Amino acid sequence: MSDPLMVEVRGLAREYRHGDFPVAALNGVDLAVRRSEIVGVVGPSGSGKSTLLNMIGGIDRPSRGSIVVDGIELGRLDERRLAEYRLKKVGFIFQFYNLIPTLSALENVELPLSLAGMDKRKRIERARSLLERVGLEARLDHTPDQLSGGEQQRVSVARALSNDPAVILGDEPTGDLDSKSAEALMELIVSLRDEQKTTFVLVTHDPIVVARCDRSLSLRDGRVVREIPKGEGSRFADSQRATMDGLY
Ligand SMILES: Nc1ncnc2c1ncn2[C@@H]1O[C@H](COP(=O)(O)OP(=O)(O)O)[C@@H](O)[C@H]1O
Ligand SMILES: [Mg+2]
Repeated sequence: MSDPLMVEVRGLAREYRHGDFPVAALNGVDLAVRRSEIVGVVGPSGSGKSTLLNMIGGIDRPSRGSIVVDGIELGRLDERRLAEYRLKKVGFIFQFYNLIPTLSALENVELPLSLAGMDKRKRIERARSLLERVGLEARLDHTPDQLSGGEQQRVSVARALSNDPAVILGDEPTGDLDSKSAEALMELIVSLRDEQKTTFVLVTHDPIVVARCDRSLSLRDGRVVREIPKGEGSRFADSQRATMDGLY
């Protein structure tokens, strides 16, 4: 049997007003992601990638259409339940990591567990084991400024995993990394998927990411204009970074 659907997006539209003018950031997007899939989202700047991710993450609400994540219809959630959804059902990885600069790696990973109500001893234990899993057992007490970009992004992966989310959403997760760290991050993401069936949706401009995705969607002007199968994406692995033109 195939894996269950973790993310189902139907007819998704989002308009923003720029002064008097409505701008369609998304204009009828459908997307279905199964458990343990790694799906990329590519497209030129302004094509709606971040908007799509923010809708799935419950950071913003659609103008039209529906989003169901792990059986939860987001449109039915009031603000309080939507905040709980963001905490427990999705993990976020951002381009610039968004770690709290005054907290250690361990405390950064502990924070969402604390917000979810886990008691102190359990959450220290869990945060420690997540940081071990991402290869940072020797960096538990380091603050973000004492870590490399690649290490900071691995802390943010551990943080994203903390409440065992249905899906991890990445917005340009390798955008601030050199190619070696980007390869290592994707290696980690693929191994998490292989080991624990974690599901990922990754917005990216990076051929290194596209090469490791199971498939990628290409957005343009708020619509999906094509799907890039893995075979095609992996041909970009050896190409220079930032030469994604052929994929849009
Ligand atoms: N909060 C917002 N307010 C107004 N316009 C927005 C907002 N967020 C995005 N947009 C507009 O929606 C379009 C898509 O933006 P975005 O999703 O950020 O694209 P991408 O991530 O692909 O670069 C752009 O035209 C952008 O200006
Ligand atoms: Mg964006």
